Amino acid sequence: MQQRVSPRAVPALLLLLLAAQPPSGRAYPLGDEAGLGRVFDGIGGLSGGGATSRLLVNYAEPYRSQILDYLFKPNFGASLHILKVEIGGDAQTTDGTEPSHMHYENDENYFRGYEWWLMKEAKKRNPDITLIGLPWAFPGWVGHGKNWPYDFPDITATYVVNWILGAKQYHDLDIQYVGIWNERQFDVKYIKLLRYTLDKFGLERVRIIASDNLWEPIALSLLLDPELSRAVDVIGAHYPGTTTLAQALKTQKKLWSSEDYSTFNDEVGGGCWARILNQNYVNGHMTSTISWNLVASYYEELPFGRDGLMTAQEPWSGNYVVESPIWITAHSTQFAQPGWTYLQTVGHLTQGGSYVALTDRKGNLTVVIETMTHDHSVCIRPPLPPFSVTPQNATFQLKGSFASITELQVWRSQFNFQTKQPSFLEKLPPVKLVNGSFTLNLSEDEVYTLTTVTMGRKGRHPEPPPSARFPKVYKDDFNVRNPPFSEAPHFADQTGVFEYHANLSDPGAHVFTLRQVVMQRPVTWATDADQTVSVIGDYRWQNVTVTCDVFMESVRGGGAFVAARVDKGGQAVRSAKGVFFWVFTDGTYKVTNDLAGQTVLAEGRAGTGAHVWHTLSLTVQGQSASGTLDGTPLWKNVVVPTPKNGWAAIGTRSFELAQFDNFAVSAE
Ligand SMILES: *[C@@H]1O[C@H](CO)[C@@H](O)[C@H](O)[C@H]1NC(C)=O
Ligand SMILES: *[C@@H]1O[C@H](CO)[C@@H](O)[C@H](O)[C@H]1NC(C)=O
Ligand SMILES: *[C@@H]1O[C@H](CO)[C@@H](O)[C@H](O)[C@H]1NC(C)=O
Ligand SMILES: *[C@@H]1O[C@H](CO)[C@@H](O)[C@H](O)[C@H]1NC(C)=O
Ligand SMILES: *[C@@H]1O[C@H](CO)[C@@H](O)[C@H](O)[C@H]1NC(C)=O
Ligand SMILES: *[C@@H]1O[C@H](CO)[C@@H](O)[C@H](O)[C@H]1NC(C)=O
Repeated sequence: MQQRVSPRAVPALLLLLLAAQPPSGRAYPLGDEAGLGRVFDGIGGLSGGGATSRLLVNYAEPYRSQILDYLFKPNFGASLHILKVEIGGDAQTTDGTEPSHMHYENDENYFRGYEWWLMKEAKKRNPDITLIGLPWAFPGWVGHGKNWPYDFPDITATYVVNWILGAKQYHDLDIQYVGIWNERQFDVKYIKLLRYTLDKFGLERVRIIASDNLWEPIALSLLLDPELSRAVDVIGAHYPGTTTLAQALKTQKKLWSSEDYSTFNDEVGGGCWARILNQNYVNGHMTSTISWNLVASYYEELPFGRDGLMTAQEPWSGNYVVESPIWITAHSTQFAQPGWTYLQTVGHLTQGGSYVALTDRKGNLTVVIETMTHDHSVCIRPPLPPFSVTPQNATFQLKGSFASITELQVWRSQFNFQTKQPSFLEKLPPVKLVNGSFTLNLSEDEVYTLTTVTMGRKGRHPEPPPSARFPKVYKDDFNVRNPPFSEAPHFADQTGVFEYHANLSDPGAHVFTLRQVVMQRPVTWATDADQTVSVIGDYRWQNVTVTCDVFMESVRGGGAFVAARVDKGGQAVRSAKGVFFWVFTDGTYKVTNDLAGQTVLAEGRAGTGAHVWHTLSLTVQGQSASGTLDGTPLWKNVVVPTPKNGWAAIGTRSFELAQFDNFAVSAE
């Protein structure tokens, strides 16, 4: 994620919306006499854009597997059809950075980060899951130092295709779709070259989604350029507000909402999601919808906290929360599969709400009905016009091949905002059809699935442990690792990439360290800092001591820091404030109130240098801070009125190599 997309071009859709409503008193037909609608491509979740699954990997078993079950296991929870992941680009992409498979031009490593692991876990549970990769950012060398990936389109295409080949070679993962550049400009020459490069490497089966932004200008480009049209299989739009454009329909491409939702995942969020899932097809002919994000597994104080289908942001406690969007997803995913076909008879209900119907063309029918009313303003891109919803008896008449169905299974979710007692994915007694007809007494804020499919389940694991704050005393010497991961638990990189490093020629004390490895400003997606920084801990921490050994590898102009009360990350990382204790290879130190290093609180000689280990310790108590270097007091009584609280952090002065060891924090 994500930039909010501004509303545009709605008028054409109003007609569509109104046309679908039958006059009151008449039954809503569900049939195939006039043919079927579009093929359904599935519902998905997005890990990345960026670092949204960062904390998930650090959960102990069995909790980690339980979370994965709620997301991916068929007939259990969200039972997702699609997993879309970020192709890490070493840059900040909303809630952190994700490592690239090629930090440097001559470097290749397909074991960094957690997306490989996540894709394998998803596949383990659902072998039919569709996998999608999309870059947000690229390592600096891809742009030859320019913040632009298209000047050398062959390099960019090879870089992306390497990731797809690596997925197969090292993890036996078949990536089925690849995108261009998230929410940024596309380049026609690059898209054609990407198609050519995929084909050249035997990846004809990999389809291209363009352009993960708005419907235009990609739709018009496809209409004007047949070669481009042959290269692209899907138009992916972000936050389409359930509507599309005539030009997009004219391309005859599949239309997807390739990023959507982005709403706080309480009950209201689940309601937004229910409406999106139905109305993206009813209003916008979209046959796939992908949630940003998959699972809220990042510090909640980072941007867009808890905008995931469920919440898993406490690996230290094991606590996680199965939120309402999981069950709302299940209403569709457990009862209709990719490859099924929408009926043409879908639409809006006269008293508000909408219905879709899908068939496997072998006699099965699934109908999903939603009557969401509540405050539209909390949903991203509320639907237009704002329908009011009132209780209604809705009669549906099955026709064509469905006319002889005599019974449908019924699943219901009720939000009940007044009573505050919602129920999700409840199995009700089947309805008996009379002459192919059934009537539902619909209230506001309900979701119903009526289906011939007899499977389906509200899966349940035992309650996870209770929620707890980050431990007040925390240490990591980076010697014990968490295979197969390249990053140390709980460190959330906000600029740069901090990964495990082994120096086997070290005499002993610092064989295993954490190393910042990004040496050049990436082709960025967000506004990365000019420094590198990785945050950890409890955002509410005030009085803390942060200690870490640092090893600066950059002889000229190198620097490293430990910090406390760091108050910002994500796309706001450049303006992060806090208490930063820096040492430099020129033998000096500094204490600053900001990551940018502009507000200097203290400075002087420290006798520090490159290629030697130094131990930095920073204590902040109330409005006073002090620091020691290699166990000796270096500065004290520095006044720090703000910020009042924030994370602990480590980092470097610039995009430079540096190592960290024996990290320790203790909070009051
Ligand atoms: C419907 O789907 C089920 C699997 O859920 C399958 O066993 C059955 O044959 C299908 N067809 C009909 C008409 O129910
Ligand atoms: C629905 O039908 C029932 C039974 O016929 C009737 O009592 C009720 O008033 C109807 N509700 C609405 C909202 O029309
Ligand atoms: C069902 O349809 C038949 C034939 O059209 C009709 O005779 C019968 O009365 C209908 N039954 C009901 C309960 O509507
Ligand atoms: C319809 O639902 C409403 C609200 O859930 C309920 O008060 C009413 O009794 C129901 N009516 C019928 C006919 O089932
Ligand atoms: C590895 O350790 C040796 C011995 O301490 C040191 O000279 C060298 O700089 C270290 N290199 C790296 C990359 O850590
Ligand atoms: C931090 O220390 C200050 C001054 O000693 C005190 O007023 C404040 O309550 C402490 N904060 C916490 C969270 O303990």
